[in-house]
Amino acid sequence: MTQDIVILAAGKGSRMKSAFSKVLHKVGGTAMVRRVLTTASTLPESKLHLVVGHQGEQVEANCQDFSANIVWQDNPQGTGDALRRVAPYLQADGATLTLYGDVPLIRSSTLAKMTALSTPNTLVLLTIALDNPTGYGRIVRNDQGKVIAIVEQKDASASQLSIKEVNTGILLAPNKHLQTWLASLTNHNAQGEYYLTDVIAMAARDGVDIVTVNPENEAEVAGVNDRVQLAALERELQKQQAIYLMQNGATLLDPSRIDVRGELITGQDVTIDVNCVFEGKVVLGNGVEIGPNCHLKDCQIGDNTVIKSNTLIDDSQVGESCDIGPFARLRPGTQLSNHAKIGNFVETKKARIGEGSKVNHLSYIGDTDMGANVNVGAGTITCNYDGVNKHLTQVADNVFIGSNTSLVAPVQIAEGATIAAGSTITKQVGEKQLAFARARQTNKDNWPRPVKK
Ligand code: UD1
Ligand code: CA
Repeated sequence: MTQDIVILAAGKGSRMKSAFSKVLHKVGGTAMVRRVLTTASTLPESKLHLVVGHQGEQVEANCQDFSANIVWQDNPQGTGDALRRVAPYLQADGATLTLYGDVPLIRSSTLAKMTALSTPNTLVLLTIALDNPTGYGRIVRNDQGKVIAIVEQKDASASQLSIKEVNTGILLAPNKHLQTWLASLTNHNAQGEYYLTDVIAMAARDGVDIVTVNPENEAEVAGVNDRVQLAALERELQKQQAIYLMQNGATLLDPSRIDVRGELITGQDVTIDVNCVFEGKVVLGNGVEIGPNCHLKDCQIGDNTVIKSNTLIDDSQVGESCDIGPFARLRPGTQLSNHAKIGNFVETKKARIGEGSKVNHLSYIGDTDMGANVNVGAGTITCNYDGVNKHLTQVADNVFIGSNTSLVAPVQIAEGATIAAGSTITKQVGEKQLAFARARQTNKDNWPRPVKK
């Protein structure tokens, strides 16, 4: 059965005190509404509708790649009003699943459980029992235990307020019935809004089966109204991700001090020390070790590479058994072959470093193509920028570059060449040549030191 999925994101979110739409605030590095759209996209044969209103242009612009049907809800008058605006676009048959843009951790497995129960004469409701149900709509059941209505907190009687089972807001309703129910909603309630939840009593009245499903955990249905709740949900997600990594064979020295803002894929026996941040897509091979305070973004690290503390890696490829850091910075376009070494206070950018080559101390290597077994002395700099354009430095295999060398690009150093320390290299160096490009030392005998007047 095809399914319409409606994601509500028109609400004001005033408690965020933000110039940005609430649903664009991020959890685990991804905007909340994008998480919901991604999860919804995993359900087969479904059509996405995104209801926007308050700061709707921002939401629309940030979610274009999902090609959802954007439905504007100007002057929002409640969740029922939101669904009514979508009603003209719903398929005649099938069912509609309603999700919230500010409930970001809902899982596809839970939604699939709901979908499995859906029939043309069944309404599926996601509910949860809470110790503190304050603020939520309460699930009202009859003596036989059948759901007969949802009452909102502000409309509930004292006895209804003591009900612990609450409405998560997520529901799946058959379209034929839903159209009729939406058309007959009224706003005669404490908030003067059109409540989507009023369709439950209509379903009970019309003899439609109302079944309930529970989420696997509370975080799945937790909504974000302010930044305190946003932070709490972030911690919850990080905890879940850390548990997943450990269950998949990674050692985390402190699972409460890792942040994954994207996707982290770990091989076997990876060890991650404290306070590391992973962004975008990061793949760590088997036996990779990461020291404290590292920040890795969109990169791939080969087996058995060791990354020491305070290292930053962005948009780079690192081979096997490399040794990086402490305090190294690999900028976009860095490619390290196996067994390469990048030491402290070394910055690389658009640089291919060949197998076994070493840049151990205080260097900048940018726009460079470097072969294998090259030794780069401390303080070596590629002068890649002439103030207007960037130029390439090419270093062949087995080159030895003495300390404090400037390589003024474009320049080529051929295989086996040696460069004397302190040189400023502006011309090509040939195979096995020694280049010596610094002032010759002069020593004067019996030099009379100046004396104080
Ligand atoms: C709603 C439910 C309540 C449930 C709770 C769960 C109703 C009437 N009540 O209450 O039973 O326990 O969620 O969190 O449905 N939105 C729109 N347009 C609107 C109004 C809201 O798009 O006109 C969106 C909001 O952006 C938000 C979601 O719908 O994402 C929920 O709206 P909110 O006002 O927070 O509903 P609650 O009062 O919390
Ligand atoms: Ca809410």
